[in-house]
Amino acid sequence: MCGIVGYIGKREAYPIVIKGLKRLEYRGYDSAGVALLNGDMRIYKTKGKVANLEELVGKSDVSAHIGMGHTRWATHGEPNDANAHPHLSDSGDLSIIHNGIIENYATLKEGLLQRGHKFSSDTDTEVLAHLIEDVMQNAKLSLADAVRASLKQVVGAYAIVILSKNHPEHVIAARKGSPLVVGIGSDRGEYFFASDATPIVEYTKKVVYLKDGEIAIVENQEMIIKSIDNVVQVPYVQELELNLEQLEKGGYEHFMLKEIYEQPKSIFDSYRGRFDAPTGTFHMRSLEEHADKLKDIKRLILIGCGTSWHAGLVGEYLFEDFARLPVEVEYASEFRYRNPVLYSDDLVVAISQSGETADTLAAMDLSKRKSATVFGVCNVVGSSIPRLSDAGAYTHAGPEIGVASTKAFTAQVTVLTLLALGIAKLRGTMSIQAISEVMKELEQIPAKIEKALKLNDEIVELSKLYKDSRNFLYLGRGYNFPVALEGALKLKEISYIHAEGYPAAEMKHGPIALIDAEMPVVVIATNSEHYEKVVSNIQEVKARKGRVIAVVSEGNKTLNSLVDHVIEVPETIEALSPLINTIPLQLLSYHIAVMRGCNVDQPRNLAKSVTVE
Ligand code: AGP
Repeated sequence: MCGIVGYIGKREAYPIVIKGLKRLEYRGYDSAGVALLNGDMRIYKTKGKVANLEELVGKSDVSAHIGMGHTRWATHGEPNDANAHPHLSDSGDLSIIHNGIIENYATLKEGLLQRGHKFSSDTDTEVLAHLIEDVMQNAKLSLADAVRASLKQVVGAYAIVILSKNHPEHVIAARKGSPLVVGIGSDRGEYFFASDATPIVEYTKKVVYLKDGEIAIVENQEMIIKSIDNVVQVPYVQELELNLEQLEKGGYEHFMLKEIYEQPKSIFDSYRGRFDAPTGTFHMRSLEEHADKLKDIKRLILIGCGTSWHAGLVGEYLFEDFARLPVEVEYASEFRYRNPVLYSDDLVVAISQSGETADTLAAMDLSKRKSATVFGVCNVVGSSIPRLSDAGAYTHAGPEIGVASTKAFTAQVTVLTLLALGIAKLRGTMSIQAISEVMKELEQIPAKIEKALKLNDEIVELSKLYKDSRNFLYLGRGYNFPVALEGALKLKEISYIHAEGYPAAEMKHGPIALIDAEMPVVVIATNSEHYEKVVSNIQEVKARKGRVIAVVSEGNKTLNSLVDHVIEVPETIEALSPLINTIPLQLLSYHIAVMRGCNVDQPRNLAKSVTVE
């Protein structure tokens, strides 16, 4: 999941491209590179971060009005200078940057090798540069036509930008599967290209999200968008809602910490204006426009990956509880390749922060082909998942830059709560009064999270005690089983400590073998109908000398003598408790990772948006 940026216009391209790459670095940080076109084609590229690239460029002459850049998450070819983008064609005329995977690159490369092409990297992308040039020369096609003809031979996903020394006033960009946004500059002939809007918002709010199979061709200060079959497309120009301030750290040391502290607001923004608690009424277009369908759905399938899958698991409890619907929660990556049995009265809800996760997109596509109704719950306006959905709801959590998802998770759970309540109302499985009670409690959540965030200093002290642990176990029951999974994932992905989440009762069936005096066990033991059972699970852990960190409801002192540490969180109803109980687990993983010197915002081997499968 690489980040790509491109610019053509009157401004200096290099500073725009470098700044853009920094904004996109959360998408991949294995290597970085730029190409600048100013009569000649100057390429600078290196292993490592954008900062390494700036160092490499140093005081070189970077004057150019056309340029592009790439920050890489390695798929084909290890992270090194040779495999860094941009890549050149055989003659060096064409330069290309690419986000995605060309699955049939080996076959294409074989043909090119037989025709004498020489390659200098192991990447699939370099093959595309060579192929386009080969087609252009052998089929005597224009650059744009050669790009279209070449892309027709490609199997896989791509977002690409191409520059050509022999076509100095041209920029060609295309996408299929991977996201690509075009920004329309204020001056004639000024265009910005990027994987998402964050590198563009500083310069213009007018953008076009390229659709699958579209090609944008800038030539002689005009841009034309065509389909891969050469049909001119009418661009849908949108106004960005994003603002620059949202993309800054705002005084926090890391984006992740800022995003953890933004949750009172992001949860409020995720439900604001969508219901009226006193009357138990909803103002959600997806519920209104699809009321008849939603009333009669027979089954709900929640699909997602990673943290979004965990939000789906909380959703399972919500929809079964409130709407009395049979629910299945599916890993999108497995669902897409299984031959699932779907019916037209099934509702599939795809959950995604980025809106670009390839496996989730493919699972949605499969569901639509099998005639299910597909809703999307997504955080990025204009991204692919909302555009593929029949309907849905945005989470309005604002840009999430930290690779480890935090505020998007609680915003997703908030929106799933609203959808579950809304469908419960349509199906008559809850009284208006019961719905209104949950809504009133939901309106208390932002203030309760403000309170939970005040545990930060306490959790810093706790983190000091456990930062050198090699393993962690997280246990929860009911609504808080997914919270245990999410807590473990957060710790794994940013501190690199091996951590597992389990249903508390499942422990006896195996994981209890891991328990000894070295094993920290985080147990979510807030007030619920399962409380006594959770206490028994804690006693089982303590009987094996496990070190227990218990998350309990405010004022509950009953476990103080049994466990090693108690974290008291504000109380709420069980159905909404995941929104509060997640907070101390996010803070614990954050502080442990910082104390271990990990790069919290850009953990190794990860990327924010997984646009390849
Ligand atoms: C979570 O912290 C990770 N970044 C990852 O598991 C993420 O949740 C997953 O890749 C799904 O991403 P999405 O929500 O953007 O689809």
